[in-house]
Amino acid sequence: MELVTNRQNLNGTITVPSDKSISHRSVMFGAIANGKTTIRNFLRGDDCLSTIEAFRKLGIKIEDDGETIVVNGNGFGGLKQAASSIDVGNSGTTIRLIMGILAGQPFTTTLLGDSSIAKRPMNRVMLPLNEMGASCAGKDNSEYPPLTIKGSQDLKPINYQMPVASAQVKSAILFAALQAKGESVIVEKEKTRDHTEDMIRQFGGQITVNDREIRIIGPQQLKGQEVVVPGDISSAAFFLVAGLIVPNSKIRLENVGLNPTRTGIIDVIQKMGGQITVEETGDDANKAGTITVATSNLKGIEIGGEIIPRLIDELPIIALLATQAEGTTIIKDAEELKVKETNRIDAVANELTKLGATIEPTEDGLIIHGKTTLHSGNVTSYGDHRIGMMLQIAALLVKEGTVVLDKAEAISVSYPNFFVDIEKLNN
Ligand code: S3P
Repeated sequence: MELVTNRQNLNGTITVPSDKSISHRSVMFGAIANGKTTIRNFLRGDDCLSTIEAFRKLGIKIEDDGETIVVNGNGFGGLKQAASSIDVGNSGTTIRLIMGILAGQPFTTTLLGDSSIAKRPMNRVMLPLNEMGASCAGKDNSEYPPLTIKGSQDLKPINYQMPVASAQVKSAILFAALQAKGESVIVEKEKTRDHTEDMIRQFGGQITVNDREIRIIGPQQLKGQEVVVPGDISSAAFFLVAGLIVPNSKIRLENVGLNPTRTGIIDVIQKMGGQITVEETGDDANKAGTITVATSNLKGIEIGGEIIPRLIDELPIIALLATQAEGTTIIKDAEELKVKETNRIDAVANELTKLGATIEPTEDGLIIHGKTTLHSGNVTSYGDHRIGMMLQIAALLVKEGTVVLDKAEAISVSYPNFFVDIEKLNN
């Protein structure tokens, strides 16, 4: 599709879509808890709809009146064997987290997805779950989907030092640990998003977190809750950057979730010298707020270490931000980008180079030299929603000619109204 180009300014207010991570988890917790869970402000993007379909296949009654989702859970014992394979579409969160739930079930499930899912590494989840007593296997003895998982009703607790910083892996182990008999101890490589830990508590469970060490004693019974999903800072990120780099702009983003394990991009913008204000609302457990950004003079910085998991999904759009900053920005310690919906190190470097950026891929990140003028070109999202949205924000800066994006439909994975919101800021 032809993208929107040559914006002279962006002004207005946007309510960003609901948080993808929390939407997935709200359905999952609803399905394994006892009683009714109601979810308001659920993200109806393709990925989260895959999670709903997966649990329907596992026998859970889930109603959606267009406003509220109601999940009728009956505890871990309420799940039934699916009549056929479960298709997770493009959703890595669905396939990895559901494995932790299926690890304790008395039946076998086959999980598959699209061509991107077929390349996502799964040993990171399968190995610890197998250690706990499940039997997971990939296609033809590989670690890649389609996967089969045979659960065990006699799961053992695990003592696990995580080799990768991954909230998906941590969450899968926590779902299994909730069904195991005894105490599991998980030590994270770096602290990652902690929505699963938060929701275990919200659903009446018990978990102890001491910095990177997590202790959980199973088996536990959870109770259905009322969940209200906040806006997704990972979706807000595209407009945060747009407001900073398009001339004469001021954008207000409302109801953005501000869980501290997710707010690395705010720290980066401040460090680069961007004009950003954050007004917090909500209590400690449900931090949210309004973020306002305005066009800014930016400078390059180094981004690496413990901040990486706090902005892992925002790195493609941060790379674009860096093309508009004076000096060099170095992104390092981010090798996980290679195993996202696509290889995001290569995708960002290839596509932004096509538009005139000076950007080098490295083994664990990117080196970006600013400030560059972007020009027209033909680009692709590689079927990755966040690459597609980043390229549309880049296109806003292109003064002459067109920017044509292949595989633009991927954007509906997390932000179905993205182009509507781009138009909203046009005045
Ligand atoms: C997610 C965790 C992250 C993130 C993904 C969502 C989650 O993946 O990239 O978009 O909801 O737990 P990893 O756990 O692979 O880092």
